[in-house]
Amino acid sequence: CGIIGCVGRDDATLETLVHGLSKLEYRGYDSAGVAMANGGVDVVKTSGEIDDLRETLEGSALTGDVGIGHTRWSTHGPPTDANAHPHQDCTGDVAVVHNGIIENYQSLRDELVGAGHTFTSDTDTEVVPHLVEDALEAGVDPERAVRDAVSRLEGSYAVAVVIAGEETVYAARNDSPLVLGLGEGETFLASDVPAFRDFTDQVVYLADGEFAKLDAEGWTVTTLDGEPVEKDVDTIEWDPEETGKSGYDHYMLKEIHEQPRALRQCLRGRVDEMAGTVDIEDLGDLSPTGVQFVACGTSYHAALYGAQLFREAGIPAQAFLASEYATSVPPIGDALVVGVTQSGETADTLSALRAARKRGARTMTVTNVVGSTAARECDHAFYIRAGPEIGVAASKTFSSQQVALNLLALGMTNTGDVREIITALRELPGNVQRVLDESVAEDVAEVYEDAGAYFFIGRGYQYPVALEGALKMKEITYKHAEGFASGELKHGPLALVTENTPVFAVVTGDGEQARKTVGNVKEVEARDAPVVAISDGQSDVDRYADHVLELPETHPRAAAVLANTHLQLVSYHVANLLGRNIDKPRNLAKSVTVE
Ligand code: G6P
Repeated sequence: CGIIGCVGRDDATLETLVHGLSKLEYRGYDSAGVAMANGGVDVVKTSGEIDDLRETLEGSALTGDVGIGHTRWSTHGPPTDANAHPHQDCTGDVAVVHNGIIENYQSLRDELVGAGHTFTSDTDTEVVPHLVEDALEAGVDPERAVRDAVSRLEGSYAVAVVIAGEETVYAARNDSPLVLGLGEGETFLASDVPAFRDFTDQVVYLADGEFAKLDAEGWTVTTLDGEPVEKDVDTIEWDPEETGKSGYDHYMLKEIHEQPRALRQCLRGRVDEMAGTVDIEDLGDLSPTGVQFVACGTSYHAALYGAQLFREAGIPAQAFLASEYATSVPPIGDALVVGVTQSGETADTLSALRAARKRGARTMTVTNVVGSTAARECDHAFYIRAGPEIGVAASKTFSSQQVALNLLALGMTNTGDVREIITALRELPGNVQRVLDESVAEDVAEVYEDAGAYFFIGRGYQYPVALEGALKMKEITYKHAEGFASGELKHGPLALVTENTPVFAVVTGDGEQARKTVGNVKEVEARDAPVVAISDGQSDVDRYADHVLELPETHPRAAAVLANTHLQLVSYHVANLLGRNIDKPRNLAKSVTVE
């Protein structure tokens, strides 16, 4: 879900809230609403996307220069008008937006219903305005009433509250992101910076247990108990245009094309090609005897790739699905536990990291979001510097994770002649650009848009690429796609292969691995499956392929990034031909903050 709040923009407040919500739509978009404090409190909300909210607002006369807004991704209760935020108390004087899960909501709700409160939604959030109402009725001042209400909550929350007669937005967080934006005479509050980046680049990240008050005087941050907290003001370095589509049809396509720049940013100042070294000194002295990666979705594929990099350097390393890791924590020993998460907010990953920390492990996150929960909770944070990614399906964050993990592995292990790899990494942005310019992915997509299913195979570094290729295809085309380790194809999946199931085979180099994968390609070709080779031309796979997506010759680690770029484009074009909602695929959210 996404939260926005704003104080001090006079007549522009409503417009600012709706604009902010449109920037936060990637966090959820099944219902949306706003509340304005203007002596009383007025709420307008609806199921559907931000455009539906805009339409609903056309018939209303909302005014005020203090307000909050919300775009929702359902966790409690279906996406209906009633379940849309903001939620109100019985008097209608309190309005609340919330992100997260209130674990003790049932007992709070029973207590409130017992005391005569009437609920109108299925959400956990609705307990909050009623708790505030109770405190106000007991004669407590509004600020104290919000603090008291919030201190009753267990679980994860970012909440923002407005109260009739108060020109103030109150906010608090625990386990769910909130950031303040500081403008000239105006203050913003949001789940993420793009919501207000058009108006200011000055931000203050709230930490767990903190409480913020935004009013005409400015802003203050205290603990829930009211102790003042000194906060740093950070400057956001990226431009507002970076969150627009810049002429591309979709954010995803724009973000695929931003990869050369993203990878350059990731490498900047971290490699010395002349000396053949990687400098990650800002991470302190890290020479782990083992690494356990935890991650979900696309980030898990990056983690699988990262684990191989460390193993190759002689360090035992394994990638775990975060949700499974938290369920059954493996022996950690002295291993460093690394959460790979572009958002830094994925609940499953945070919970795996917390489980590791509870057992005394050192933790690190590889993330794109400075100030994210993972970045703040881990002992170390290594930033992938991809810039904001709006498309729900990860693209540039995946390739940036791949490059960042290379840097980590090189910087932490310092073994062997890394010069060749460093050179390949330095050449990578240019090579990605070449793939973007020359790829025939769109032609391939046109041939196979009607296929029954899509299979992806690869070995070694190319295995996670096969998995990611299939995940991307599923996410944005809604069609069946599976990725397999090449060698595993013959152990079952081969039964699915027909003339209607194109097989995408990633083959690089001319060694043993390539030879074996070419053997697997022959197996599917013999069963009449169309073959699309993603190949650097070093093996003879092209002979058995119906189409070839060409890779420049480079180190296999870098080839994994390049092969993925082709596959991103294939999925994108298939989805586009099928008319899918590419930036916001059905049922998916960019950042899943529930387990
Ligand atoms: C969600 C997204 C995926 C993403 C995963 C992990 O499920 O839809 O695209 O890979 O979360 O996200 P993270 O922010 O932890 O990388």
